[in-house]
Amino acid sequence: MFDHGILERHSLLLVVGILIVVAIGGIVEIAPLFYLESTIEKVQGMRPYTPLELAGRAIYMREGCYLCHSQMIRPLRDEVERYGHYSLAAESMYDHPFQWGSKRTGPDLARVGGKYSDEWHRAHLADPRSVVPESVMPPYVFLEKNELRFDDIADSLRANRIVGVPYTEDMIANARADLIAQAMPDANGVDAFQKRYPKASARDFDGDPKRISEMDALIAYLQMLGTLVDFSTYKADAPENRR
Ligand code: HEC
Repeated sequence: MFDHGILERHSLLLVVGILIVVAIGGIVEIAPLFYLESTIEKVQGMRPYTPLELAGRAIYMREGCYLCHSQMIRPLRDEVERYGHYSLAAESMYDHPFQWGSKRTGPDLARVGGKYSDEWHRAHLADPRSVVPESVMPPYVFLEKNELRFDDIADSLRANRIVGVPYTEDMIANARADLIAQAMPDANGVDAFQKRYPKASARDFDGDPKRISEMDALIAYLQMLGTLVDFSTYKADAPENRR
């Protein structure tokens, strides 16, 4: 019916044939993920990043922290014992782009939130070897000095909304005020902020309550990583974990 020899004698034709076969395999595997409801299991507790956390996340990416740190705990015994519950897909559903990574010069950071105090992070980011003498992590002392620029924070929320993060008009309109309320809890509006972002902690992260530095934003981000889902009650596939 079909002369196989033709394919084997024409390398270009063979390549095209291979591509078609691989594409079929790929489509069969990938296409269902777009309509299966269980692709990303919904879990309780997930919320979009607060404006301050989002700004901190931008600094995390700007400084290339992901080049040495992953944010995905694999479901392997040694990882789960070291870092905690393996990462759920839902935990990075609001990450654009996600920070899973595969390079671990330093430890995984998916659940680093709450592991250390703000002071520890401050000392560590300014001079890692002051708290971990054998560390090879570079110092980021300038984060303390750099004032955080957040004039465009509402636009960051808006951009995230375009790719599917459920920021409301209310959140976008109050992005600036919420950022200030989280980093300067003496400011007005902390209650309104926490109503918009449940479980978000408002405090001075960088030890200088008078200004908002890049350090404030980065520590706010680090301290919430992996803290949204309550794993003392979480059971994979339990109906109560579905929204
Ligand atoms: C050159 C690689 C490298 C880069 C870049 C890097 N780190 Fe690290 N990081 C390490 C290493 C190695 C450790 C383990 C030793 C230590 O605690 O300092 C570490 C540890 C950490 C820890 C403590 C983790 C734990 O569970 O003990 C945090 C938090 C952290 N890094 C955050 C950051 C942030 C934020 C950035 C970007 C601003 C960053 N790192 C950039 C290598 C790196």
